[in-house]
Amino acid sequence: MGKQIFIFDTTLRDGEQSPGCKLNKNEKLILAQDLERLGVDVIEAGFPISSPGDFDAVKDIASIIKSATVCGLTRAIKKDIEVAADALKGAKRPRIHTGIGTSFYHIHHKLQITEDQVIERAIEAVKYAKTFVEDVEFYAEDAGRSENDFLARVVEAVIKAGATVVNIPDTTGYCLPENYGQKIKYLFENVKGIHKVTISTHCHNDLGLATANSLAGVQNGAQQVECTINGIGERAGNTSLEEVVMILKQHKGLDFTTNVNSEQLTSISRKVSALMRMPVQSNKAIVGVNAFAHSSGIHQDGVIKNRLNYEIIDPKSVGAEESAIKLTARSGRAALKYRLEKLGYNPKKEKLDSIYADFLSVADLKKEVDDNDLIGLMHKEAMLPVT
Ligand code: KIV
Ligand code: ZN
Repeated sequence: MGKQIFIFDTTLRDGEQSPGCKLNKNEKLILAQDLERLGVDVIEAGFPISSPGDFDAVKDIASIIKSATVCGLTRAIKKDIEVAADALKGAKRPRIHTGIGTSFYHIHHKLQITEDQVIERAIEAVKYAKTFVEDVEFYAEDAGRSENDFLARVVEAVIKAGATVVNIPDTTGYCLPENYGQKIKYLFENVKGIHKVTISTHCHNDLGLATANSLAGVQNGAQQVECTINGIGERAGNTSLEEVVMILKQHKGLDFTTNVNSEQLTSISRKVSALMRMPVQSNKAIVGVNAFAHSSGIHQDGVIKNRLNYEIIDPKSVGAEESAIKLTARSGRAALKYRLEKLGYNPKKEKLDSIYADFLSVADLKKEVDDNDLIGLMHKEAMLPVT
C-alpha cells in the first residue's frame, strides 16, 4: 500500500495568484468540486482577507466541500486570522494556514524585525488560530533560503504552540533537490516533537526543480505536498500536482501512495487551462498534448510494435486519449501504414512505397500530415484532372 502522502492543492490560491489566472467565484466553486472528486486531501481555497471576492469564494467553497479539508491563507496577523476563521466557519474540516518569513532577506529586508520577534509572532499567530480551529498549518516563508538552525527553532516553537502541519516552502525556487531534502532531514533530526505533526513541502519552480525538490522532501520524511494543477502559480509556478502524483504512482519501489484518482488528471488539467485561459505547454509532462505523441520513425516503429518500448505511463491511467502516432517528415513507413490502416486502407508494399515518397514531399511542406492529407494521397490518381 505504501506510506500515504497528502496532496494539498493550492490551484485556487497560489495558482490563481499568478498573472492572468484570475477566476470568478463560480469558476472557483466548479474547480473546488472537481478537486474534491479528484481526491486531493486539502483544498487551499484562497486568502480571505485579500479581497471581499476571495472571502466569499472561500466561504462558499467551505460550505459545499464534503470530505476534503478546506484551508484559508493568512499572514501572522490577528485580523487576517479572524477573517479566515470567519470564511471557514461552514467547513466540515477547516484549516488555517498562517506564517511568517524566516530567511535573512525576509527578516531584515521585508519584515525589518529581529529573529526573536519572528518567533514571537509565529507562536502568537499559531496560538490565535488555534482559538478558532483545531487544524493549524504554519508556513516558514522562504524556508528554502533560511538558515537551518534558525528554521529548526521556529518549527519547534510553532509545534509547541499547537501547529498540526508545518510547511517548509522553497518560496523562491532556489534549492537544489539535495539541499531541500537535507533541510527536511535536518528538521527531523533536530526538532523536538516533529513526529507529532505533518511536515509539508511547498516548492516553486523558478529553476525548474519544484517537482524534484518536493520528491526529495517526501523521501526525507515530508508527508504532505503542496502543488497546483498544471503547475501554475507565482512566477514560474508551483510544483505540478499531476507530476507528483504520477511519480509516486509509477515508482512503486518508493512505496508512497496518494488518494488522487489519476484517471481524472487530463480532464481537470484541461478545465483549469480553459477556465484560467492559461494554455498548457505541448510538451508538459503528463498533461501536455504531446505527452503521449510519437513523431520520429524510430520511436513510432517501436511504439507500434509495443507501446512499452517508448512509454512509461499508460495514457489511460491519466485519462488521456491513446498514444498518438504523429505523421511528420521524420516518420517512417511503419507509421504511415499504421495510420492508413486506422483510416481503413490496407495498401500493398508497392503502393505503400509510392505513397511514402509522396507523403515525404507533403511532410516536408507541412509540419504534420493529417488524415485529410492521407486520404488525398490514397486517391491521388483519381483526383488528377482527366486529359
Ligand atoms: O511560496 C510561499 O512561501 C507561499 C506561502 C504563503 C505558503 O505560498
Ligand atoms: Zn507559494
